Amino acid sequence: MTIKQALDAAAVELKCSDSPRLDAEIMLAHVLKVERSYLFTHPELELSDDSLQCFQRYVARRAQSEPIAYLVGNKSFWDFELAVNSHVLVPRPETELLVETALELGAADEALRVADLGTGSGAIALALAKECPAWRLLAADISLEALEVARQNAEALNLINVEFVQGSWCEALGTGCYDMIVSNPPYIAPSDPHLIEGGLPFEPKLALQAADAGFAAFKSIADEARQHLRPGGWLLLEHGFEQQVQLKALLLELGYAAVSGHGDLASCDRLVVAQWNQAQTVASD
Ligand SMILES: C[S@@+](CC[C@H](N)C(=O)[O-])C[C@H]1O[C@@H](n2cnc3c(N)ncnc32)[C@H](O)[C@@H]1O
Repeated sequence: MTIKQALDAAAVELKCSDSPRLDAEIMLAHVLKVERSYLFTHPELELSDDSLQCFQRYVARRAQSEPIAYLVGNKSFWDFELAVNSHVLVPRPETELLVETALELGAADEALRVADLGTGSGAIALALAKECPAWRLLAADISLEALEVARQNAEALNLINVEFVQGSWCEALGTGCYDMIVSNPPYIAPSDPHLIEGGLPFEPKLALQAADAGFAAFKSIADEARQHLRPGGWLLLEHGFEQQVQLKALLLELGYAAVSGHGDLASCDRLVVAQWNQAQTVASD
């Protein structure tokens, strides 16, 4: 079978995908260890039996909705590639809004201390570390497997201004005081039917689900972050498209100021930013 015939057949099989042809091309390029452009310039090339069988196994997995990023082991984010595996969420393009907003709030040339809670593949922390070499990033996650992925991604990008710590939300921060705390925490309610649709069943539940109708992680982070933000420090939380009003109310109730909501490129509510203005940190309950 030629490259073109294999791609044509796979595109028919991948009806579950929004981009069957592209998916097939990405997987075949991965199997052949070539750039996608090679497939267009060599459509008549005969595939070896091994390559064809390997490609067909990928196609079969993709046809079951397994995310393509897990199949090929990487995903583009910001202006770099991240290695991913089934221990980490596949980084979403929407999360770049959080990165852009953090970059607008913090001066790039100051030695700011910034924490990324629930770092997963390291997407947010590594984008900030790369854009702002003067910042000192702490990337935390409760999952040791996720931290290992993030650590390897930092190494591949030669980023030395990121430290990795295991811990549950702000526990990972010890007694540290931060200029900015950012997080894209799990926020899907366990009863949400989306969890069993598309590629989500392949992603770690730890990265997706939160108790309390999806608000458990927001509540912990927003509460605890008050003891770790310097006066005037910023908290940035990515959230689901129907959660902004309730999340803003939660932050105001906890004493945050300058609470604002932001939408992503698809005009979906996506991010809440709040400032901790109080001179005194709060005592824990
Ligand atoms: C939605 S994923 C975000 C991953 C990454 N920051 C991104 O934006 O692509 C949430 C992350 O929070 C982590 N997580 C879940 N519960 C946690 C907890 N109690 N403390 C710290 N991290 C937690 C998960 O392991 C997962 O990596």
